[in-house]
Amino acid sequence: MCPENSENEVAIESSDLTIGYASRTVMTGLNLRIDRKSIVAIIAPNGTGKTTLLLTIAGILPTLSGELHVTDPHNVGFVLQDPQNQIVGNTVEEDIAFGLENKRTPKEDIDRTIATVLDYFGIAHLRKADPSTLSPGQSQLLALSSAWALSPGLMLLDEPFSMIDRDHRSKIIAVVEKMRKSGTTAVVAVSRLFDTLWTDRVIALGNTGILFDGKPQDLIGQYEKLFGQTCVPLSFFTLMREC
Ligand SMILES: Nc1ncnc2c1ncn2[C@@H]1O[C@H](COP(=O)(O)OP(=O)(O)OP(=O)(O)O)[C@@H](O)[C@H]1O
Ligand SMILES: [Mg+2]
Repeated sequence: MCPENSENEVAIESSDLTIGYASRTVMTGLNLRIDRKSIVAIIAPNGTGKTTLLLTIAGILPTLSGELHVTDPHNVGFVLQDPQNQIVGNTVEEDIAFGLENKRTPKEDIDRTIATVLDYFGIAHLRKADPSTLSPGQSQLLALSSAWALSPGLMLLDEPFSMIDRDHRSKIIAVVEKMRKSGTTAVVAVSRLFDTLWTDRVIALGNTGILFDGKPQDLIGQYEKLFGQTCVPLSFFTLMREC
């Protein structure tokens, strides 16, 4: 447990945490402390445990052992790695309205919020569309729109750029930064180094646990050494171009 006086500053804290599934332990000995209103990237090669960690933080997967404290566990937004798995509405607008209706938000406010988030991402024309017909990128934008509409205290984004074009990538980053200004903490799982560069802090995971924890710029020089052949080497200039 966290000391009471640090409660307001910490969004997530774990001690000797083991994560995984009944059939498989994925990672042990995780000691994490993520401050409120920070934007933290989690980077790791495929299959290392990024999704498992986010699902555990969200309380969707139980911890296997150790301590995990999430300060505001009932106020968590999640953009799943496969956002088609989180559709709850028959139309895009119903999907965004669902959480707002559960919070008993007045109808006019719901309508206004739906219009605002869809306009922002340039997908207002999809308001009446069936979410199952959306492209993978549009599904990611819908999942983010539905989560953003609820102003969560903690936002978990699992590879939110994986199916997104460059313009929408900038808009997603701007939304997360905007949310942080209103008090949201964000944890963003990514698999490409250049997707960490806009964040405050990056935690690189390997099979043995945390390999690096620091500023994204400081990871650039160590990236190949840490991950060896498992990640594509990227020069600094490639990174800048990609950004
Ligand atoms: N439901 C499950 N039951 C058992 N093992 C699982 C389950 N889901 C994932 N795993 C295993 O847990 C390990 C971590 O998977 P996870 O999906 O968390 O990795 P990841 O870093 O998110 O990978 P990716 O980059 O491919 O999304 C992998 O070995 C995976 O095969
Ligand atoms: Mg994953």
